[in-house]
Amino acid sequence: MAFDFDQIIPRRHTDCLKYDELEARYGRAELLPLWVADMDFRVAPCVTAALQRLVDHGVYGYHVRRPRHQQAIVDWWGRRHGYTVHPEAIVYTPGVVPVLSHLVQALTGEDDGVLVQSPVYYPFFWLPRVNRRRLVINPLIEHQGDYQIDFDDLEAKAAQARILIFSSPHNPVGRVWRPDELERVASICLRHGLVLVADEIHNDLVFAPHRHTPVARLSPEIERITVTAHAASKTFNLASLATAYVLIADAGLRARFAAHHEALAVDGLNPFGLEATVAAFNEGEPWLAELLVYLRGNYQYLCAQLQARLPQVRVGPLEGTYLAWLDCRATGLTPPQLRQRLVEVGGLALNDGPIFGPGGEGFQRLNLACPRATLAEAVARLERALALPGSDR
Ligand SMILES: Cc1ncc(COP(=O)(O)O)c(C=O)c1O
Repeated sequence: MAFDFDQIIPRRHTDCLKYDELEARYGRAELLPLWVADMDFRVAPCVTAALQRLVDHGVYGYHVRRPRHQQAIVDWWGRRHGYTVHPEAIVYTPGVVPVLSHLVQALTGEDDGVLVQSPVYYPFFWLPRVNRRRLVINPLIEHQGDYQIDFDDLEAKAAQARILIFSSPHNPVGRVWRPDELERVASICLRHGLVLVADEIHNDLVFAPHRHTPVARLSPEIERITVTAHAASKTFNLASLATAYVLIADAGLRARFAAHHEALAVDGLNPFGLEATVAAFNEGEPWLAELLVYLRGNYQYLCAQLQARLPQVRVGPLEGTYLAWLDCRATGLTPPQLRQRLVEVGGLALNDGPIFGPGGEGFQRLNLACPRATLAEAVARLERALALPGSDR
């Protein structure tokens, strides 16, 4: 391996969310945190070098975007996902969550329905609420750890909504949606006149033989109703650099969004985020290739360890993302007991299933993007927290 993912890099006292907010979020500071979706790995050297060039220059005046910035995005999607992005389709934004909110504001009116699936990344619920839209939920169907879309329910719920916010690949259940599933989702949106907002931020974190399909690539008709949200931040661990973008191929849809975006005046660009994105996309593929091998190794390690030591906790299949979805229902603990045992007995900070909405009860989300030694410690803590009373383990 050319890159060292085993190195433990201390993050406490750096004002990072994952470690330095534990007291505020979990009531205890000294927990092992495998919750929020960032990585404990140092970024690719090409990213550090790009940022170092800016630091060395030392002048941080206003910045403008250039064709080379867009070209890095165009090339990335072409190479990685076989999708042709036209530079004019790219609209920059400080983050995917902010832009999801802006899309809700731009494309729906007060009390309009916003359709989401469940369980899902928690801002999908609160963004419609804080924007005073009506939340419409299409629950995923779970059977022994496998998640499927309930298309009949989606069809019925689509009639009550103006947009669908869709997680692809899916956080937290780890599905990489197949082209036939995406076709059906998109055709329902087309039939009912919904805009399909595809949050594809996890799309480069996919494990073979699975492959990500950009929903907008499926047909010109589908592309016309799709807004794809993306950033280099998840793949290359750049979340704090606050740089993301949406792809809106259809000029009319883009104009609808642009009018609102202009009014928000959030178009300013952060050169650190922009240059890090360009470096990651243009030069970061060797690092990403090794990252994916390491993450898959972590997933396999977790599965093997839990099967041997804590079989009552089941790890769902992981087709994409670095987020393991742990089914803890067989422990017999209620969701509050589960949460309490993990924190108080295990000393472990995971994401509590119920925050991902209906269907999250009895589950926990565990972030695999950490050194193997950290994961080994997390397994020991899980075992301490959840071993059944009276078990000899
Ligand atoms: C599905 C999904 N969308 C968006 C984000 C966050 O995006 P941003 O940091 O650009 O707001 C995350 C982070 O975990 C995510 O999982």
